[in-house]
Amino acid sequence: MQLNFPDNFWWGAATSGPQSEGRFHKSHANVFDYWYDTTPTDFHDFVGPNTASDFYHSFRADIKLMKQVGLNTVRTSIQWTRLIDDFETASLNPDGVRFYNDVIDEFIANGITPIINLHHFDLPVELYQQYGGWESKHVTDLYAKYAEQCFRLFGDRVKNWFTFNEPMVIVEGQYLHQFHYPKIVDGKKAVQVAYNLALASAKAIAKYRSLSKNNDGKIGTILNLTPAYAASDDPADQKAAHIAELWTNKLFLYPAILGHFSEELVELLTKDQVIWQSTPEETELIKHNTIDQLGVNYYHPFRVQRPDISPDSLMDWMPNKYFANYDMPGRVMNVDKGWEIYPKALYDIALNIRDEYHNIPWFVSENGMGVSREERYLNDQGMIDDQYRIKFMKEHLTWLHKGITAGSNCFGYHVWTPIDCWSWANAYRNRYGLIRNDIRTQTKTIKASGHWLAETSKQNGFDI
Ligand code: NOJ
Repeated sequence: MQLNFPDNFWWGAATSGPQSEGRFHKSHANVFDYWYDTTPTDFHDFVGPNTASDFYHSFRADIKLMKQVGLNTVRTSIQWTRLIDDFETASLNPDGVRFYNDVIDEFIANGITPIINLHHFDLPVELYQQYGGWESKHVTDLYAKYAEQCFRLFGDRVKNWFTFNEPMVIVEGQYLHQFHYPKIVDGKKAVQVAYNLALASAKAIAKYRSLSKNNDGKIGTILNLTPAYAASDDPADQKAAHIAELWTNKLFLYPAILGHFSEELVELLTKDQVIWQSTPEETELIKHNTIDQLGVNYYHPFRVQRPDISPDSLMDWMPNKYFANYDMPGRVMNVDKGWEIYPKALYDIALNIRDEYHNIPWFVSENGMGVSREERYLNDQGMIDDQYRIKFMKEHLTWLHKGITAGSNCFGYHVWTPIDCWSWANAYRNRYGLIRNDIRTQTKTIKASGHWLAETSKQNGFDI
C-alpha cells in the first residue's frame, strides 16, 4: 500500500547557521563561540563551532547535494552576530549580507524553497554580558530590530519565516538544567526569559506585518513539543503529567497561537512567586501578533510520574518539583542517544493541534535520529547504509499520515538534518544527516536515507 501525502507537501530538512556555517567572521561572538573559546573542554572531543560543516565555503556544493536527496524546502537560520555589526542600531555587516543573499539565491536557483529562522540559540555574547541576554526586555527590542533588517533584506525572496527555534531549550539549557552556557540555575530568571522570548517573537511578528512587501509571506515559530504521558492512572501521576504539559508544551503554544498564556500556568507560577514581569501593552502585543503557521520539532515523548523530591528540598524554583521522569519498562530506546523512540506521539500532536489550537497549519520542522560512530554502517560502496534511520522516518511518517487523514492541517516533514552537523556541546558525537560529512576532510556523501528520501519526495509518499 502506498501512503500519499497532500499536494505541495514540504519534503525537507533543517539545519542552523551556528551548526553548519563555521565562524566566518569574527567581529562578534555568539554565546557558543564564547563558551568554546573560554571552556573548550566542555565540548565533545574538544570540537567547537569554528568550522562546523563549512557551509560558508561549501554552500553551493552542499545545496546541490540537498537537491539530490529530493528536498523541496530547507530550513536554516541567519546568525545575528554575522549579519549585524552594531546591535543597538542594527547596522549591517556587508559580508553577512552578501553571504545570506547568496545562500538564499542558491537555494532558489536549485528549486529549493528557503525557510528562514531568525534565532537558533545564537545570542550575541555581548548582549548577555551587557544586559543579561534574554533576561532583558531591551534585548527583545534589539532582536526585533535585527528581525526587521532580515525582513527588509530578504523578504522579497523568503516567504516563510520563523522567529525562534526551541525557545524552551534556551530557558532550560541556560537557566535550569545547565546544558548551555551560562549554565545558570535560577527558576525566577528562567520564567522571565520564557516570557521575554514569547514577547520577542510577538515583536518580530508585528514588525513583519508592518512591512507591506511581506504581505504575501507567512511567519511562525518553531517549538519542541514533548508530549507528557503519565506513568499510571493514579491521580498523582496524572497530575504530574498535566503540569508537565503546562510547562513543557503549553508555555509557548498558548501565546504563539492563542495570544495569551495558560491561566492555570500563570496561577501556578504566581503561587510559587516566580511569575514574570509584564505590562498591559505587552499583553496586547502578544494578543495581536499570533503566528500564521507552526513548526514542531519532535524527537521523543516525556514519561512522567509524581515528583520524587520534596518541594521544600529545593533551594530555588524548578518546574520538576511537580513531576519526575518515569523509566517505562519496555519502551523502545535509541541506544546511542538515550532517547525513547515513540512515533505515535506525532499522531497525538497532530490531533492536539487540530483540537486545541484552531487546527493551525503546521509542519514537522525537525524529526531525526542521532547515531554515534556511524562509520560502523559503511557498506562496500562506501555509503552509510542507515536502514535504522529509514525505519525511523517511515514509522513517524506513517503516524503523521494518520493524523493528516484525521484532519490535522500538517503541510510538511523536515528531517534533522541535511548534512551531518555540529551539535553544540555534543559536537559531532551523534550524526543525524541524510548526507554524511567526514569532518577530517569535509567530504560529503549521500547515505541510504538520503536516497530513500529522494524517492519518497519524488513519489510524494512511500510504500508500507
Ligand atoms: C534540536 C535543535 O534545534 C538542534 O539544534 C539540535 O542539533 C537537534 N535538536 C538535535 O539534538
